[in-house]
Amino acid sequence: MCGIVGYVGGQRALDVVLEGLRRLEYRGYDSAGVAIVHQGELATEKKAGKLANLTEAVSGHTVADGIAAGSTGIGHTRWATHGAPNDRNAHPHLSEDRAIAVIHNGIIENFAQLRTELEAAGVEFASDTDTECAAHLLARAYAEVPADTTSRLAEAMRRVARRLEGAFTLLAVHRDLPDVVVGARRNSPLVAGRGQGENFLASDVSAFIEHTREAVELGQDQVVEITPDAITVTTFAGAAAEGRDYHVDWDASAAEKGGYDHFMLKEIAEQPQAVADTLRGRLTEHGEILLDEMRLSDEDLRDIDKVFIIACGTAYHAGMIAKYAIEHWTRVPCEVELASEFRYRDPVLDRSTLVIAISQSGETMDTLMALRHAKEQKARVLAICNTNGTTIPRESDAVLYTRAGPEVAVASTKAFLTQLAAVYLVGLYLAQVRGIKYADEVSAVVEQLQRMPEAIAEVLKTMEPVRELARDLAKSGQVLFLGRHVGYPVALEGALKLKELAYMHAEGFAAGELKHGPIALIDQGTPVVAVVPSPHGRESLHGKVVSNIQEVRARGARTIIIAEEGDEDVVPYADHLIRVPRTPTLLAPLVTTVPLQVLACEIATARGHDVDQPRNLAKSVTVE
Ligand code: M6R
Repeated sequence: MCGIVGYVGGQRALDVVLEGLRRLEYRGYDSAGVAIVHQGELATEKKAGKLANLTEAVSGHTVADGIAAGSTGIGHTRWATHGAPNDRNAHPHLSEDRAIAVIHNGIIENFAQLRTELEAAGVEFASDTDTECAAHLLARAYAEVPADTTSRLAEAMRRVARRLEGAFTLLAVHRDLPDVVVGARRNSPLVAGRGQGENFLASDVSAFIEHTREAVELGQDQVVEITPDAITVTTFAGAAAEGRDYHVDWDASAAEKGGYDHFMLKEIAEQPQAVADTLRGRLTEHGEILLDEMRLSDEDLRDIDKVFIIACGTAYHAGMIAKYAIEHWTRVPCEVELASEFRYRDPVLDRSTLVIAISQSGETMDTLMALRHAKEQKARVLAICNTNGTTIPRESDAVLYTRAGPEVAVASTKAFLTQLAAVYLVGLYLAQVRGIKYADEVSAVVEQLQRMPEAIAEVLKTMEPVRELARDLAKSGQVLFLGRHVGYPVALEGALKLKELAYMHAEGFAAGELKHGPIALIDQGTPVVAVVPSPHGRESLHGKVVSNIQEVRARGARTIIIAEEGDEDVVPYADHLIRVPRTPTLLAPLVTTVPLQVLACEIATARGHDVDQPRNLAKSVTVE
């Protein structure tokens, strides 16, 4: 939540910062602002609403203005926590003497106490934000640091950071320091970009990827100072520290729309490749799984007697599907839990528990806090993550990266399918190592898994009728989704997509629960999407879902059926039939989810919504 960018170097800072904000806008779009240092002046501009408002506001500036001329600057795109999303609360926030500008991602939990203290000392606040406290504290700390101190602003930032509680990434510039941006990080993302005669700070690498692919991962409780020639890292206490250098293995074009109207459409289309990339090099031609990179020894994995999966939102749905697969393949009990609930109910964990934390961003605060709780209880933690070098994989014992590439649309699509590919790999690997499934059974599933990118591509080729149907459904008041077994989390995911994109009432149900209440929602014409299991899987499951479809149809529902090619039993009960290729039951979510993504995207478009940046949401939820 909130995107932040800092730049020092030889380019016009305004251009670099605005371009960085454009790439980070998915992290929050309530307001945007910049602060630029030029010739002893600090020029700022900030506007409520999307980045376009800020861009328009600065477009009138000429090179004669500091804001257009400076080569040191910071920029922010906001997801509001403290204070309404208006101009006044937009970042940057300034110290009273207007010498220091600060931007912030996170929540300063002791801000009320700090504000009272500052107000008692005579400070007049110009906003309702927690961030403004940091600007005033920083000005005071800067005044106290002797003027001849090397890296004076960094030293002031360390003093402030030690006083703050909660989660924060702060960036600051000072009008007297033309070539310096300083940052501080606790429980909130910050990465540095290493350029030639220029350096960058940002919430994630996409902000500077077009300038450099050399990144520096920063640790918790660290302060960083960038100048055109150096990136200097210390702890909050002032001890020298080092970031970890890494090369970003995708380029700027991966984070562009590439001819699609929306990132979401592009990301849906990329799914066959993303799943193929996630499987690449991890399956052998002999039907075995290779996960040497995972950093958990086979011995560790043999000792495991329980698996917990923690995740939020779409990643949680991937976890629900993982439970079916892991328990079936390994016979190890597996529980799935919303990360935001996990640590509050005192779960039973020990050294023999494997906790799998699933997160696209690697920064979701609820998942991070659940992970820390698991580690405190001595459980081993494996992260399944899409974003290199982020906090969740850093703090886990082991990591399996999905290789979806950057996912920019707020609604998760390709990340979800690659999370599924990753959990299948983990489940099969556990089965292989523990010897619970016979080798030939593992290799049969491996072979089927290898064919899934092709199956996903097949589904994508047949989506035109789904788009037509979506335009027709756009005026509906609600859409219900039914599924059983792994089709149940798929139904939940279909409903989540529709809620977040189309702002419609949508609910997913376990089809078996229908008669226990939800069937009362069915009225004449209510659209009901049913995810039908393969008739070649467990016969009873297929038959039961077909009965559930008949039950809702008898009560007036308009049925939209997702069923396997060749499944003729559903034909008499389908008002709309969406076919998917035949797949093994456990792997079916890789294909059945795709029409639901397309459906939600098209309904939202037909309703005139911003598909990539739905209202009230942000891509990474970095506050609890
Ligand atoms: O980055 P994460 O995978 O940890 O994010 C988890 C959820 O916030 C995320 O999946 C969210 O539910 C998506 N907007 C759903 O499309």
